[in-house]
Amino acid sequence: MPNDPAPDSVPDTAPVPGGGPCGRPGVASWCRRVRGLLTPDRWAHVVRVTELAERIARANRFTDDEVHDTVLAAVLHDAARDLPDERLRELAPPTNAQERAHPMILHGRAGRALAESWGVHAPRVLGAIEGHVAGVEPEDRIGTAVYVADVSEPGRGVNDDVRELALRDLPAAYRTAVRRKVEFLRACGKPVHPTTLEVHDSLVPDRS
Ligand SMILES: [Fe+2]
Repeated sequence: MPNDPAPDSVPDTAPVPGGGPCGRPGVASWCRRVRGLLTPDRWAHVVRVTELAERIARANRFTDDEVHDTVLAAVLHDAARDLPDERLRELAPPTNAQERAHPMILHGRAGRALAESWGVHAPRVLGAIEGHVAGVEPEDRIGTAVYVADVSEPGRGVNDDVRELALRDLPAAYRTAVRRKVEFLRACGKPVHPTTLEVHDSLVPDRS
């Protein structure tokens, strides 16, 4: 998008090694900035999520603007994931006991705050960054594409069926991914984040 702020002073013509979406002008500088905050393994995950999110977006006939915002949100979604707990709490003050006990849950909201501080203002990009942890409204195409790509990228070794489904029917893949997460947490006896529960309970039943 022509109005995207330049994230840093590095010329945007220099590609990030590895090609893919990060090899493109307009994306490369964001990739460099995020890569500087993450471990190599985490960065490799971000690249896979970004590639898959773009495939999902194109397969579901997103507009060019939607594809652009999906790619940007995917690049940024885990920007705060490797920050120390204290920094997470600074960027995203906890709002409930679960968030206080497990600061890692804050990394979506903290990533949103980081992106805002870098000059990203598009609500649907910021919403997808925040919502990749606890979920987004089912009608949010960009948010659901990033959420599903995050939980089903091939490096996870799980949710291959969700990935395949997302390339045909993103809303159905999102419903499956959210239900699976809630079932998994309940089976482990772990608390479900209130937002996740809200999203889960709002999903219409699948007819199949
Ligand atoms: Fe992720």
